[in-house]
Formats: sequence, structure tokens, C-alpha cells
Amino acid sequence: MNAIELKHPLVEHKLAILRDKKTGTKEFREIVSELATMLCYEAMKDAKMEEVEIETPIQKMKTRKINEDNYAFVPILRAGTGMLDGIISVVPNAKIGHIGMYRNEETFKPTVYFFKVPKDIDKREVLILDPMLATGGSALDAIELLKEKGVEKIKFLSIIAAPEGIKAVEEKHPDVQIYTASIDEKLNEKAYIVPGLGDAGDRIFGTK
Ligand code: PRP
Ligand code: URA
Repeated sequence: MNAIELKHPLVEHKLAILRDKKTGTKEFREIVSELATMLCYEAMKDAKMEEVEIETPIQKMKTRKINEDNYAFVPILRAGTGMLDGIISVVPNAKIGHIGMYRNEETFKPTVYFFKVPKDIDKREVLILDPMLATGGSALDAIELLKEKGVEKIKFLSIIAAPEGIKAVEEKHPDVQIYTASIDEKLNEKAYIVPGLGDAGDRIFGTK
């Protein structure tokens, strides 16, 4: 599978709290953000580094930094915005785009209602943020919209992914690497991830 699953006791611990239906909005939001930071660490493991010279209180030294201008982060509204704080905490100068879409509850097909990305997006590596990769419909539309804008390198960061969604992305876009905190079992008849965590957007924003 073209998906990298974070395997770490801290990730499993945070996921256990996140999935629990008794976990309230505040803690849910905090953990989505924390897991987004962990996903970002993993997804940026191959980041291009640039030589810089700095001066410590002791002496000058040559070291390396990431050029944040090489990146853009694109959350899928609504739930993806819950991951933004965790990303900005480690890549504070990141440029942010937004793709608005919602899933039809009967057909499970996404409808795009908003698309706004940085002008020079084609020169950046794009990390798409969405806590849930279920059927993969939303991910496919987001990837296609970005590729139409000329984006060449895309990674997809999800907190929970279903095998069905991973397969869908892998078949159409084998060049897109997926990073996830958990590959779950399957989808249910309503295309919700099992065991999953329920509706990510509703739990982040407290709308249900
Ligand atoms: C959820 C989720 C993904 C999508 C995943 O969003 O955040 O965007 O469903 O499902 P898929 O892989 O089957 O397309 P939803 O449409 O519920 O919108 P919301 O973020 O506004 O709650
Ligand atoms: N969207 C969610 O928020 N949760 C799921 O399990 C599937 C899609």
C-alpha cells in the first residue's frame, strides 16, 4: 500500500483518546492538532535542506534549514482546518490554500464549493490535510484540482484512512504518498470508517 502509517506508542495513545466517543470538543481539537504535527514530521522527512551560516553564543557554524517557501499546506474544509494549528506550530511560514468540499450523504460523492490556493502553488510541494480518508472521493477531487494547477509533488496527510480510500488514491495517483496515523479496518454501509472516530468535522466543531 502506498500509505505510511505512523507506528508509535504516543500516536496510538492519542488515537485511543480521539476515537473515544466520550472525548469532548476541546480535547478532540487538541489531539487532531497534535497528530497533525506528528504527521507533518514524518511527511517532511525528505525535505530539501539549505546550507546556512549562524552564530551560536559560542562560535559561528554552518548548518542547514528548510526553505519553507517550497511548501504549501491545503486543508480540505471543514475538518482539514482542524489540522492547521498543528502544522503551523512547526512550519510557521507555510502558505495555506483551501479546498471546500462536502460529501453527499447518499451518494458519498463530494461537491466542491471553494478553491483558493497560493498563486505560485505550481512551484511548491503540497501537503493536503484531511483527518479522514474514507472512500477517497474527496482526496481524488482535491488531488486533481491541484494537478490542474500544475502541482507536481503532492502528499496526503490523514489521521485515519480506510483501505478503500488508500486503494482509490493509489490506483489513480500512485505518485501521491499518503501519511496516516492509522489504517483502519473498512468502511460501513454509510461510508464511515470502521472503527474510525465518527464524523471528524462534527467532532472538531461541535456541530452534532
Ligand atoms: C469528511 C472528511 C473528508 C471526507 C472523507 O468530510 O473530512 O473530507 O468526509 O470522505 P471520502 O474519502 O469518502 O470522500 P465531510 O464531507 O463530512 O465534510 P466536513 O469536513 O464539512 O464535515
Ligand atoms: N468522514 C468522516 O468525518 N468520518 C468518516 O468516518 C468518513 C468520512
